[in-house]
Order: sequence, then structure tokens, then C-alpha cells
Amino acid sequence: MEQFEIIIPTLLGLEAFAARELRRMGYEELTVEDGRITFMGDLEAVCRANLFLRTGERVLIKIAQFTARTFDELFENTKAADWSAWIDRNDKFPVKGHSIKSQLASVPDCQSIIKKAIAVSLSSKYGIEKLPEDGALYQVQFSLRSDTVTLMLDTSGAPLHKRGYRQKSNGAPLRETIAAAMVMMSHWKYEFPFADPFCGSGTIPIEAAMFKQNIAPGLNRSFAAEQFSQIPQALWNVCRAEARDMRRGLPLEMHVSDIDADCVSLTAHNAQEAGVGEYIKPKRADARNFLCGRRNGTIICTPPYGERMGETRECEKLYKQMGQVFMRMPDWSYYILTSNERFEQLFGRRASKRRKVYNGMLKCNVYQYFAPKK
Ligand SMILES: C[S@@+](CC[C@H](N)C(=O)[O-])C[C@H]1O[C@@H](n2cnc3c(N)ncnc32)[C@H](O)[C@@H]1O
Repeated sequence: MEQFEIIIPTLLGLEAFAARELRRMGYEELTVEDGRITFMGDLEAVCRANLFLRTGERVLIKIAQFTARTFDELFENTKAADWSAWIDRNDKFPVKGHSIKSQLASVPDCQSIIKKAIAVSLSSKYGIEKLPEDGALYQVQFSLRSDTVTLMLDTSGAPLHKRGYRQKSNGAPLRETIAAAMVMMSHWKYEFPFADPFCGSGTIPIEAAMFKQNIAPGLNRSFAAEQFSQIPQALWNVCRAEARDMRRGLPLEMHVSDIDADCVSLTAHNAQEAGVGEYIKPKRADARNFLCGRRNGTIICTPPYGERMGETRECEKLYKQMGQVFMRMPDWSYYILTSNERFEQLFGRRASKRRKVYNGMLKCNVYQYFAPKK
């Protein structure tokens, strides 16, 4: 099958996890940059990456890359790319993108110039003046970084963090991609207990159960590229069958709770939707009373951050109490995400390791506390 460049954008801080996943899927040669990974792949790689990636945000096909400091350069280079290799005479091709540290800083202007250039290129290729744009959707994405333009086609549609199980969420849900990365960094082994005493809408335990049971995150959703004429339905079917076959049925011990009764029902509902309801039986409980008699467990959680005044004070009090409560299980490991920079001080222990991640625009850290070596 013909190879082309595939780009996986990630949240800042998650690049290493997406790269690890891609290597495990057999794509060894990767270029890892801030917020994106590039590799050579074929149509099958497009289907597999969409279905299997837990920590990538999208799967994009790279069409062209060039330097542009003027609108003329942007127009001419865009027009010169081989758009007809993907976009047929009837297909829709809306354009969106972003510009960072570049002379061409106006996103709406770049958007309309790129749109015009693609239309001119396709019109001359197909010999029609007005393209009907009533066919399949080929969303064009552009990225301008330090005057380098990258033109891409989006094969995912809705971003990959939308797995389809979380139609509803509590006020402060965590991106599924971050939850999956927290589970990956934890090295939680299924023989030992897992706990999330601040489960909210259940994202962390759901991602943890899906990861351990090898449930492909994209199995219950559709992708834009299912409408692409280049990808036969049979190829999607083969990749979906691979995804279904890799599912495991390990016994899991998961302690999942929240102080809010609505969050408890929400987690139970979302876990059912995700197909992991049998492992996740959430309870209403105060994390300040959390105690589990089993050994060598792992806690992965996002306690409230309290971004507003007043709330912050409450949260900081809670972090102090968490420090005391978690200390009662000295052979457990903890992975705690918060945007509060004073967390370690309040929790009362320096983390074994810290990892910066951006939950949207909010800079957070995952404070990692490893159990002492036996
Ligand atoms: C940041 S949210 C968790 C988000 C969650 N990870 C998700 O993906 O939806 C924090 C949660 O902690 C819960 N909470 C606050 N104080 C608590 C306490 N003392 N014990 C247990 N849960 C608490 C809140 O009800 C809220 O659902």
C-alpha cells in the first residue's frame, strides 16, 4: 500500500505516550515534536491509529509543507499541492487552522486564501468552474508555526478523546487522553487494586479498565475517513475485527467513589456505555475516609483544583487531609493531577516524579508517588 506522512497532534506533555503507543502498533520511525508526532503510514495505519490510539487527539494526513511569509506564497504553494489525490470533484473541503509566531498571523485570512487556492487547483484539475461541494467531508487543517505552513486532511472528525461513552459529564471532566496517559505512566498491574476516590464522571477508572482489557478506544464511534473514497469499507472491517479480537477479560479490583451522588450515577452510566460496567461499581464516599486493606494498590485521581478564590482554600485543606489519609497505605502508589503549584507542600511529601500536562489551556502537574521498592 502507498505510504504517506501521518501527523498525530497531542496535548502538550502527552507526546511520549502517543509515541509509545505508535511504536507498539508497529510504527517505529517517528518524529516527535512539541504537540505532534509524524510518521510514514498507509491507509491501514489511518484506520488503526484512529481506532487504537488512547493519547493522540487526531489522525491527520500531511498534504504539503512549505515556508510562507506572504499571502502570495501561501496561495501559490497551496495551489501547487496535489489535492485531487484525495479530494474528488464533489467533495466538501472546509478549512480551519491556527497560526503561532508567524508573519501570516490572521487565521481568517489564511483560511480564505487556502480555501481559494485549493478550489482553483481542483477546478482546473476537474475542468469545472464551480465545485458543488455536496460529497464526502475532507476537512482541511493548516498549521502555521514560525512561518512554516503544514497542510493536512483530518481523518478523525470528532477529536479522538471523544470515545463515545461520555455523553454527559460533571462540571470538571478530565480529557480522556490525559486520563489514559496517567494510567500509562502509573504502571498499574491488574493483579493489584486500583482506586479513584474522586471519580467525577469516571474518566480515569474507565480509561484504566479499557487499557487493561485492551479495549480499543475508537471501537464505539465513527471517523470522518469512513466516508473517504480511498479507504474501502473492507479495510475498516478488518481493523475493527482486529480491535474486537484483542479484548481481554482480566479480573480487575477497582475502588471507585465520589462524595457527590450524581457523580456516582454518572460514572456508573458512563462505565456501562464504555463496556466496562462490570469492573466499575462506584460508591458514594468521602475521600477523606478512604482506606483499603489490600496491599500494593494504585490511586490515580484528579481532586478538585479550585480555580476560584475561596474554593482554593477549601481544596488546599483537602490536599493536606489527603496527605494524611493516603499515608495510611504506605505500600500504595499515587498519581494525582492538579493545577495547584503548592500541592506537594500541602500533601506533605515531595513527589517521586512530576510530569507537566496541559488540560486545555490549564497547566497541571501529575504528582507521582511511587511505592517504596520491596
Ligand atoms: C476534578 S473532579 C474529578 C473529575 C474526574 N476525574 C472526571 O474525569 O470527571 C473532582 C471530583 O471530586 C469530588 N470531590 C470533592 N471533594 C470530595 C471528597 N472529599 N471526597 C470525594 N470526592 C470529592 C467532586 O464531587 C468531583 O466530582
